[in-house]
Amino acid sequence: MDFLTHAHIEAFQALRNRLSDADRDRVDAASVEALDPARAAARHWNFELPAHAADAALGSDATDDMRRALIATWALEMPERVAAEDLPAEVMELYPWWLDRLSEFLSAAEGGYDRDHWAKDVRLVLVLSVPGARSQILDLWSRVGPRAVLLSGLEGHGWGSVLAYLKAQGWRRIWLQNHTESRHTEDFNEAGWDRTWVTSAAICKARPGVAGMMGASWFYDPQLEKISPRLAYLRLNPVKGGAFVIHQGPGEIHSQRSGATSPTRRALIESGEYIPRSWLLAWPRSTLIPWADRQKAKGAPSAD
Ligand SMILES: CC(C)(COP(=O)(O)OP(=O)(O)OC[C@H]1O[C@@H](n2cnc3c(N)ncnc32)[C@H](O)[C@@H]1OP(=O)(O)O)[C@@H](O)C(=O)NCCC(=O)NCCS
Repeated sequence: MDFLTHAHIEAFQALRNRLSDADRDRVDAASVEALDPARAAARHWNFELPAHAADAALGSDATDDMRRALIATWALEMPERVAAEDLPAEVMELYPWWLDRLSEFLSAAEGGYDRDHWAKDVRLVLVLSVPGARSQILDLWSRVGPRAVLLSGLEGHGWGSVLAYLKAQGWRRIWLQNHTESRHTEDFNEAGWDRTWVTSAAICKARPGVAGMMGASWFYDPQLEKISPRLAYLRLNPVKGGAFVIHQGPGEIHSQRSGATSPTRRALIESGEYIPRSWLLAWPRSTLIPWADRQKAKGAPSAD
């Protein structure tokens, strides 16, 4: 089956055709000029830097329609880019669904382009991040620096995690990093997360230099076992399988996110009984791959 369907190609072309000739020329120039800076920026901890490179190439007076057309232009180039990455089947089988969502989102959008969506779409079409499940995207080029790991140990959050980090040679290797896609959270559940871990393990198998998979969030916080036990699986399942956690600490953004959808957590934050804290959860390849093999032996996670 072709990577892009006829419907995808038509939708992406239509986004380009909406522009004037002059604006389309600017988008085409930016689609070349931004490539190297965006790729170089992908290794930085700031997830949004590739999108900043695209903004710089488009120019400060660029419109959101030009941004959407740039995503469409890069989406049309995805077949070659994806083929060059030689990604495992677990990733490839997710692409048709993600491309359907992307073309629908871009075609329906009018007005503003949310900054988080723009940053994620740049990464997706440049294959700097790849689908891990329906609600999760995986960055291919992340780092876990030693400073935060050491600090977590020194602050009394456990030396076991520091040892696990050293054992995984986590400071000198690339990590995969997950991000939650707020536009489609329908598989943000235990099965969807198992699928994310299985996809991550498949990438680790295909790329021996990758240390493992990691993510950082308020939802890896041990406090959730009491506050939102429904979400405790997010930390407990990986930790049972060999993952370790690093304390990062509180912050306004973590409080905003934790309180965004849950009246219970919002009330506890407002009363001061709960201060959301971010934790980094990292699952080294040495235990992630065997865990995923056992999952697959039990029956691979379904796409639906
Ligand atoms: C991460 C996220 C997708 C998880 O959503 P979720 O699986 O629905 O879980 P939540 O605990 O947030 O649920 C919110 C509300 O939905 C309802 N709910 C969720 N799961 C439910 C279930 N199984 N049964 C009944 N009600 C349920 C409840 O009303 C719950 O509110 P409560 O905690 O007061 O009971 C969601 O919290 C979110 O979008 N957060 C903001 C963005 C974010 O944090 N992204 C991650 C950045 S690191």
